[in-house]
Amino acid sequence: MELLLQGQVAVVTGGAQGLGLAIAERFVDEGARVVLGDVNAETATAAAEQLVARGGADCARAVRCDVTSEDDVQALADAAVSAYGRLDVWVNNAGVLRDATMRNLSSDDFLAVLLTHVHGSWLGTRAAGAVMREQGSGAIVNMSSISGKVGNIGQTNYSAAKAGIVGLTKASAKELARSGVRVNAVQPGLIRTPMTEGMREDIWRKRLEEIPMERFGEPAEVASVVTFLASKMSSYMTGTVLEVTGGRHM
Ligand SMILES: NC(=O)c1ccc[n+]([C@@H]2O[C@H](COP(=O)([O-])OP(=O)(O)OC[C@H]3O[C@@H](n4cnc5c(N)ncnc54)[C@H](O)[C@@H]3O)[C@@H](O)[C@H]2O)c1
Repeated sequence: MELLLQGQVAVVTGGAQGLGLAIAERFVDEGARVVLGDVNAETATAAAEQLVARGGADCARAVRCDVTSEDDVQALADAAVSAYGRLDVWVNNAGVLRDATMRNLSSDDFLAVLLTHVHGSWLGTRAAGAVMREQGSGAIVNMSSISGKVGNIGQTNYSAAKAGIVGLTKASAKELARSGVRVNAVQPGLIRTPMTEGMREDIWRKRLEEIPMERFGEPAEVASVVTFLASKMSSYMTGTVLEVTGGRHM
């Protein structure tokens, strides 16, 4: 049986840990070669070594990349093409939280979140889109959040950013569709990763109560949906947003 991403080349930003690493693991399991772009070079290098142990020699590399830097994102795309000769999948996943209610949220922390998520995803989409347009094929997957659909207290920055990613997904999907490039997004709910493990216990419990499936999600359950959107399984889907939430905020 052919693997879903056999012979394909993928970039995952924020791929050093959490959802990004789970996505990279699934991609490697499905036959892809993966470039991890992460601002944390040390963790990303260790993650790439872990992927090579899992998928075989030369199936993964790490590149230090801060997605808020135009030059870094371009260099990440260039590194993938020069290492592996093509670019089939790009996942804009890197993200940060700077949670605070508006009374306590500074403009700097508002902008830091917008720059990482929205501008970072835009830079990635533009760089990947340029290569994929020439190639005549490709799939871009953007990491939104259910917070971008419903809005969360203490997340005016993050909710705005994750809603912005939906607009970016749809507009870029329209621009790239005729070139054979698809752009889709996922909106995870509460998934257990280093990002959410730092959440206050009372907030964690309150969010858990809102989930019809009565449990949080595992990174692999987001990775499988991203893999679906990255693969030919979703060949007639573009500009869509898939919720991975256990039914929360449906
Ligand atoms: N965990 C959840 O419940 C959840 C839910 C919805 C959406 N998300 C989104 O999924 C994505 C991954 O989240 P996670 O839970 O794995 O978080 P995480 O904090 O575990 O991992 C995020 C990764 O992004 C990297 N990163 C941060 N800023 C960067 C930058 N400027 N450039 C490059 N890399 C950078 C970090 O070094 C880290 O490796 C984020 O976009 C997050 O908003 C997570």
